[in-house]
Amino acid sequence: MKTGEKTILITGATSGLGLAAANLLADKGHRVFGTSRDPNKYFEQHNSRRFELLKADVTSRGDCREVLEKIISEAGRLDVVVNNAGIGIAGSIEKTDTDAAHHQMETNFFGVLNICQTVIPVMQKQQEGLIINISSLGGLAGLPYQAIYSASKFAVEGFSEALYQECASENIRVVLIEPGDFKTGFTANRDYSEKELEESKSFQSALEVIRKDEGKGADPLIFARLIDKIIGQKNPRLRYMVGKTDQKISIKLRRLLPDKLFLTLLKNHYRL
Ligand SMILES: NC(=O)c1ccc[n+]([C@@H]2O[C@H](COP(=O)([O-])OP(=O)(O)OC[C@H]3O[C@@H](n4cnc5c(N)ncnc54)[C@H](OP(=O)(O)O)[C@@H]3O)[C@@H](O)[C@H]2O)c1
Repeated sequence: MKTGEKTILITGATSGLGLAAANLLADKGHRVFGTSRDPNKYFEQHNSRRFELLKADVTSRGDCREVLEKIISEAGRLDVVVNNAGIGIAGSIEKTDTDAAHHQMETNFFGVLNICQTVIPVMQKQQEGLIINISSLGGLAGLPYQAIYSASKFAVEGFSEALYQECASENIRVVLIEPGDFKTGFTANRDYSEKELEESKSFQSALEVIRKDEGKGADPLIFARLIDKIIGQKNPRLRYMVGKTDQKISIKLRRLLPDKLFLTLLKNHYRL
C-alpha cells in the first residue's frame, strides 16, 4: 500500500475502540470517515471531532452503499476499511432471546459482510486496499454466557481467512485484530435479561467477572496505535492480538493445552 495520507472508513466511531482509532488516524493526517447509527446523538462532539461522521447502520446494505458513495464523491477513493461496529449480548444459551441472537449476528457478522461486499469492488478497481476486521479473543475461544457473541466473532475469523485468500492476488490485504478486554462503552451497552440475572447464580458470577475484567481493561489508545502501525505496513500479518499480556498468553495456551484442560481453566476463571 502506498504511503502518505489515506482515506479510511471506520464503522462504529462514536465510542470506545472506533472513536480512539478515528481520532488518532485523523491526527496523523489521514482522511477519516466514521459511522454511527445516529450521528445527531453525538452532536456535542461535533466541534471537537477531527473526522467526518456519517450515518450508517451496518445491518443495512442501503446505508453501507450510501456511505461508500459519499466517501467516493468526497475523497475519490477508499484505502482502508476498519470493520469495528459491534455489540455484545450475554446470557445462557437456552434463555437467549432468538431475536437478540439474530441481531447480534446481523451486527457483528453480517455487518462485516455488508461492508465488505460494498467496498471490495472499489478496491478491486483501485487494485489496492486494506480491510481490517475487528474480532475478539472471544473469537478464538468460546466464552461462557457470551456464546452468541463468541459465535459472531468465530464467524468473522473464518470469513476473514477466506477473504484473505480470495483478495490476495488483487492487492487487497485482509487483517484480523483480536482485542482482549478494553475499557469502553461495550460493558454498559451489553444487552441481557435482568430476569435471568436475578434467577441464575452462575450467570451472576460470570457477568461479574466479565464486567470486572472489562473494567480493568486496556486503554483504547493501544488499539488505535496498532491500527496506525498496521496501516503503515507494506505486508501486514493476517492476525494481531491486542490487549493485556496475561489475556494474550491465556489464549495462546489454547494451542498448547488439550481442549478439556483449557476449557476447565476458562470455566474456573468465570467461577462456574
Ligand atoms: N471493548 C472490548 O473489551 C472489546 C474486546 C474485544 C472486541 N471488541 C470489539 O471491538 C469493537 C468495538 O467495540 P467497543 O468496545 O469500542 O464498543 P462500544 O464502545 O460499545 O462501541 C461500539 C460502536 O459500534 C457502533 N455500533 C453498534 N451497532 C452498530 C450498528 N448496527 N451499525 C453501526 N454501528 C454500530 C456504535 O455506534 P452508534 O451507537 O453510534 O451507532 C459504537 O460506535 C466491537 O466489534 C467489539 O466486539 C471489544
